[in-house]
Amino acid sequence: MATHAPTAAAHETGLITVRVARKRAEAADIVALELVPVDGGALPPFEPGAHLDLHLPGGLVRPYSLCNAPGETHRYCLGVLREPASRGGSAAVHALLAEGQTLQVSAPRNHFALQPGATRSLLLAGGIGITPLLAMAEALHAQGADFTLHYAARSPLRLAFAPRLLAAPWVRQVQVHLDDGEPAQRLDLPALLAAPAPGTHLYVCGPGGFIDAVLTAARAAGWPEAQLHLERFGAAVVQHDSDAAFEVQLGHSGPVVVVPRGQTVLQALAATGTVLASSCEQGVCGTCLTRVLDGTPDHRDQYLTPDEQAANDQFLPCCSRALSPRLVLDV
Ligand code: FES
Repeated sequence: MATHAPTAAAHETGLITVRVARKRAEAADIVALELVPVDGGALPPFEPGAHLDLHLPGGLVRPYSLCNAPGETHRYCLGVLREPASRGGSAAVHALLAEGQTLQVSAPRNHFALQPGATRSLLLAGGIGITPLLAMAEALHAQGADFTLHYAARSPLRLAFAPRLLAAPWVRQVQVHLDDGEPAQRLDLPALLAAPAPGTHLYVCGPGGFIDAVLTAARAAGWPEAQLHLERFGAAVVQHDSDAAFEVQLGHSGPVVVVPRGQTVLQALAATGTVLASSCEQGVCGTCLTRVLDGTPDHRDQYLTPDEQAANDQFLPCCSRALSPRLVLDV
C-alpha cells in the first residue's frame, strides 16, 4: 500500500478538503462519486473495507464505503444509493453535490478488514453493499489470494459497477445473481454456505435483510463466528414504549447529565456542550464508540459483536441506552 504523506488539510483539522471530480449515475438510484484532493497532495491511504465520513451540505455527516482499489491515493471513489427512507444524507448526495464542488471528508477508517492468513475469502454483496467488497476484491486479486465475489441485485438496472466488473482481471471470480432472473442463477445461500472450511472467511455487506439471511444460513451450516464478517449501512434504531430516563456521568467525578426518554445519549450530551464524534447515528458505523466505566448499557447497536456487548465495557451512545439508573462514561 502506498504511504504518501497526507494532505496539509488532514494534518490541521482531521478533515480533508476534496473536490467532486466526477459524479455519474451508476445504476437506478445509485450515483458514483470520485473525490480528489484540492491541494494536489496525496490522500491518506486506505485499507480494503474502509469507509469515510462525508460532511454534507446542511451539516449532515454520513459514512460511505470506499470502492476504489486500495493503494490509490489520488482519489476516493464511493457509490451512494438514494435511500427511500433517507434521513437526509443520501438525498443530499444525490440532489446537492455537483461536480467541481468542494467538501470535507474524514480520513478513512476500517471496521471491516480482511483477515490476514485466510486461505479463501467469500465476498457476498447485496445491492449497494458491493462497494467495500469491490475494494476487497481488488486487494485480494493483487495478493494473488483465492476469492469469489457473489453479487446479488434486484434487476440489471440496479446492478452498479457492472462495466468495472466486466473489465476486471478477476471477472471470472464474480457471480452475479438477479432476483428477476432465471431461478437457476439466483443466490442459493444454503447451498453456497453448506460446507464451512477452516481458513475460509465470509464477508457480507448490503441491506439488513440480506445480511441477516446470509448470517442465518452460515450459522445453520456451522460457520464459526470468527469466520463471519459484516458491514451494515443502516438500521432502524430500536425504541421501546418502556424506555425511561437515566443518567450519564462524564468520568467518575464529572458532571451528571439526564438522558430523557426520546433522546439519545449523544443528543443529551450535545445539549450540555459535550459533543462526541458521530456519523451514522444508527448504531452501525462505530464512530461514537465510548468506554463504559460503570453501569450496565442497554445495547441497541448493530456494530458490537454479541461477546463485545456482553462485556458491557463499551457502548454506542447514538442508539444504546441504560439498564442501570446511571452509566459512568470515559468521556
Ligand atoms: Fe455510528 Fe454511533 S454514530 S454507531
